[in-house]
Amino acid sequence: MNDGNDLPERIRTVAGMQARTAAWRGAGAQVALVPTMGALHDGHLQLVRAAAAVADRVIVSIFVNPAQFAPTEDFAAYPRDEAADVARLAALGVDAVFAPAVAEIYPDGFATRVAVDGPALGLESDARPHFFGGVATVVAKLFIACAPDVAIFGEKDYQQLLVIRRMAADLGLPVAVVGHPTIRSADGLALSSRNAYLSPGERTTAPRLHAALQSAADAIRAGGDVAAALAAATSELEASGFAVDYVALRNAETLAVVADPRNEPLRLLVAARLGRTRLIDNIPV
Ligand code: PAF
Repeated sequence: MNDGNDLPERIRTVAGMQARTAAWRGAGAQVALVPTMGALHDGHLQLVRAAAAVADRVIVSIFVNPAQFAPTEDFAAYPRDEAADVARLAALGVDAVFAPAVAEIYPDGFATRVAVDGPALGLESDARPHFFGGVATVVAKLFIACAPDVAIFGEKDYQQLLVIRRMAADLGLPVAVVGHPTIRSADGLALSSRNAYLSPGERTTAPRLHAALQSAADAIRAGGDVAAALAAATSELEASGFAVDYVALRNAETLAVVADPRNEPLRLLVAARLGRTRLIDNIPV
């Protein structure tokens, strides 16, 4: 680990990143990657701390991936401040920041994408059909460039975590994909770069998303009717001003529709819009 007194090395090319990891690995180091799109918040920093706890060298990638945004989404407006991000990472002793340009990841003539199925079906894909193909493609490229032993992802994006874990297993990529529990504000709101879009009034309402999940999870744990618990959470959110995309109970390992809630690992997931901001959250049941 960098001792925290130096800025992390900024690496812009795939070849440069591969050479750096190869040198570390040649010296016997274990390498961890925390993939991000920048606009780092305390949730990201916790992922970096978790990475530092399991590896000798830590890479943070910063890349706002055009392939995971639809033309109508916020790619251009997505918050970007690399200098501030790198300064925050320096304090944590990160060794390298991999921050390629778009053309380095998607060179002229780029014509290959990772297609995903299984845990990618439904939920987020219903609202954002382009999303997981774009995520899987870029994460595969990040894994090839950074060649980490372990990669850490936040559980806030639970479906993304399962899609990436499945993709790494299916493609035989030699990396352990590790989930880290969601980091929340004191009022329960899951930390997200997109929380910056919330108006002060919306920010006050936003924690109701987590509260609605908790009430539904409590009802399901107490043996209540699942459909009724999900409907109650939806009504509660709509009454608070959310436009709900889904509140769903799924198998926590596969995201398949639950056949028997008493005999499966369960995850409760929600996506809802508050004004122009789309928020997602999930909890174990
Ligand atoms: O969760 C994110 O920030 C992004 O989807 C990821 C995993 C960095 C891929 O662009």
